[in-house]
Amino acid sequence: TSPKASSPASSQVLVASNRGPVSYTRAEDGTLTAKRGGGGLVSGLSAIGPETDAVWVCAALGEGDREAARRTGGRLDREETGGQAVRMLDIPAETFEAAYHGVANSVLWFTHHMLYQTPLEPAFDESFTRQWAEYETYNAAFADALAQEAERGATVLVQDYHLTLVPLLLRERRPDLRIGHFSHTPWAPADYFRLLPDDVAAGVLRGMLGADRTAFLTTRWARLFTECCERVLGADVTTRDGTLSVTYGGRTTRIGVHPLGADGDFLRERAHRDDVADRMDQLRGQVGTGPDGLPRRTLVRVDRTELSKNIVRGLHAYSRLLTDHPEWREHVVHLAFAYPSRQDLAVYRDYTAEVGRVADEINSAFGTPGWTPVVLHVKDDFARSLAAYRMADVALVNPIRDGMNLVAKEIPVVSDEGCALVLSREAGAYEELAADAFCVNPFDVRETADAVHAALLLDAPARASHSRRLAETATAHPPTRWLLDQLRELA
Ligand code: G6P
Repeated sequence: TSPKASSPASSQVLVASNRGPVSYTRAEDGTLTAKRGGGGLVSGLSAIGPETDAVWVCAALGEGDREAARRTGGRLDREETGGQAVRMLDIPAETFEAAYHGVANSVLWFTHHMLYQTPLEPAFDESFTRQWAEYETYNAAFADALAQEAERGATVLVQDYHLTLVPLLLRERRPDLRIGHFSHTPWAPADYFRLLPDDVAAGVLRGMLGADRTAFLTTRWARLFTECCERVLGADVTTRDGTLSVTYGGRTTRIGVHPLGADGDFLRERAHRDDVADRMDQLRGQVGTGPDGLPRRTLVRVDRTELSKNIVRGLHAYSRLLTDHPEWREHVVHLAFAYPSRQDLAVYRDYTAEVGRVADEINSAFGTPGWTPVVLHVKDDFARSLAAYRMADVALVNPIRDGMNLVAKEIPVVSDEGCALVLSREAGAYEELAADAFCVNPFDVRETADAVHAALLLDAPARASHSRRLAETATAHPPTRWLLDQLRELA
């Protein structure tokens, strides 16, 4: 037990996640520069203020992070990070690789997003057994660090599929703590989840049930989790006063649902800075005007280049639109921003290449000297994403499966003239936004093309009123409220 554990109960909040709120890169001149990350957790936690004495425990991800961790003994104070105090774990590369790429990204992510398909099948061989052991080691490193950093009675918020074993490991070390776990991904149905080796499936569930409360982005994912607890562990699932809980091994874990919303105030302010206006000028040049002399309509998508985002099928749907409805040729441009992600994995590299190839094919099949049908950008640029949000007439969000998808919530909040939303029914955001969106089956290219067509046909007042309603729903649970709700429930 840590020396701090003898002090009185505390309002201290600790967050644990694989990727932390800050990352370090070595600049040309040799200095280490810190870059603060975005995202709901970062803004939520900044808003609850320094009085909570928050500490964020994360892994060192690149060489810059490792250096910063070594130089500071892994403890980066508020001054150093420009935000929360961070405990950065310098986990041995072999352990990190196996836990992060091997187990978390290649197996747990694929399972929850139901991405396995021939020839992309799971291989639960000796190499996976070794990776799973490293995943246990990596989770134990987080539990050890949290046990050291936490004051008596502190609240710990553990994030995501990388850290499923932490709640139980931490409870064993520090029973005085209040422990929450949050899944930012979908959860797999029991029949799919049970494809995991028995000890892995049970280990993940038992680990998460070590929390006082484990929460999800939607009711759908929460129910699938409890279904897995029943089927894999034989746990008891009950609903009392509207609260779902799971009882296993003599302990009860409450299940929460907290749909993260867009940070409207931040987005609106950020989207009106000069760098965004500059990007809009550039994009307007790329979009151009149609034969009628009017600015062309825009169909906008912004994603990490991620298999679950279904970008290639989205491009096929756009191509189908131009085939089935030739009246849109020269009158619409697809701004498709697909930012490379997890390039250490071969399937992601292949997918990234395919996105580029299909965009090129569409441009050679339909393009004319004055019209580029698809403007594909692959260099991550937040200001340019916001510029596209502001210019969007129609937003395309068609994931195969997605925990929430904040882009679906952000574009209507930011779009200048109001946008229509084409939304996959498999995105978590569907639970809240379906009534005001054009909803599609993400595997149905023709339906997606038809939905884009219908969305483009909306007149300006109809689009604006759709967009207003979407924005209102989208900002109902801004990050601060989302986080405070979780803390209140844990208290
Ligand atoms: C997405 C998911 C998160 C996850 C993150 C990890 O944003 O919604 O649940 O934590 O990816 O991404 P990374 O780039 O760190 O692998």
